[in-house]
Amino acid sequence: MGDDLLQRVRVHGAVPGHIAIIMDGNGRWAKGRKLPRPLGHHAGMGAVREVVAGCLEAGVEVLTLFAFSQENWQRPAPEIEALMGLLEEYIAREADELREKRVGVRILGDLERLGPGARAAVDRVMAHTAGGSALSLNLCISYSSRAEIVRAARLLAEEAAAGRLDPADIDEDRFAQQLYTAAWPDPDLLIRTSGEMRISNFLLWQLAYAELYVTPVLWPDFSRDDLFEAILDYQRRERRFGRVPV
Ligand code: FPP
Repeated sequence: MGDDLLQRVRVHGAVPGHIAIIMDGNGRWAKGRKLPRPLGHHAGMGAVREVVAGCLEAGVEVLTLFAFSQENWQRPAPEIEALMGLLEEYIAREADELREKRVGVRILGDLERLGPGARAAVDRVMAHTAGGSALSLNLCISYSSRAEIVRAARLLAEEAAAGRLDPADIDEDRFAQQLYTAAWPDPDLLIRTSGEMRISNFLLWQLAYAELYVTPVLWPDFSRDDLFEAILDYQRRERRFGRVPV
């Protein structure tokens, strides 16, 4: 089934260069099985592996995953500890294979808030996979899009106050250069699992023209085939960027 779908993705049209995903529904997945929520997150790690493999196979260049929001710091302490532990586990288990597959990992967000173990792990995986050019994997951790935008404005204001930047020269490109995502083109496709129709403070600037794909599948159940279905759906869309059809 998977290889058939992959074949269809390849012949169907242009593959999105950048896919962003809001990985939602881990809690509901666990609840449905009468399991504690952290086990839902643990199962979600398997889906992360699936989508990384699928993106490599399909030729997607950038994959940006929303793994932990700044708002998530308000969850109960044991759940936060479980999520941070999973991040460390994912890095410990996957770093070598990611490097072998030439996946370059970046962590986007307010890393100052991470504990020492998680901070060391993210620094390690970024250094270990630096230069990986088959796929850029961005993990958004302690990330809030509004905070990212405010940070960009502050950085530009500091430049202007220091006399290094004329405010008249601030345009969209100059602004986007101050975002965590400066190195990559904007996402072409946003996938959200578990059926919620929300953006949830994720990449508000960068998603301006992204195609949206919401699936009822809960994140731990999201497979390589689900990714290919989302890409096939994207390939059927007509993207106009505010213009009229040609
Ligand atoms: C949303 O589900 C998911 C999260 C807050 C965490 C996402 C984390 C993972 C997929 C696992 C680890 C990932 C990496 C990259 C190591 P939810 O808890 O909000 O689910 P609910 O809406 O059903 O309660």
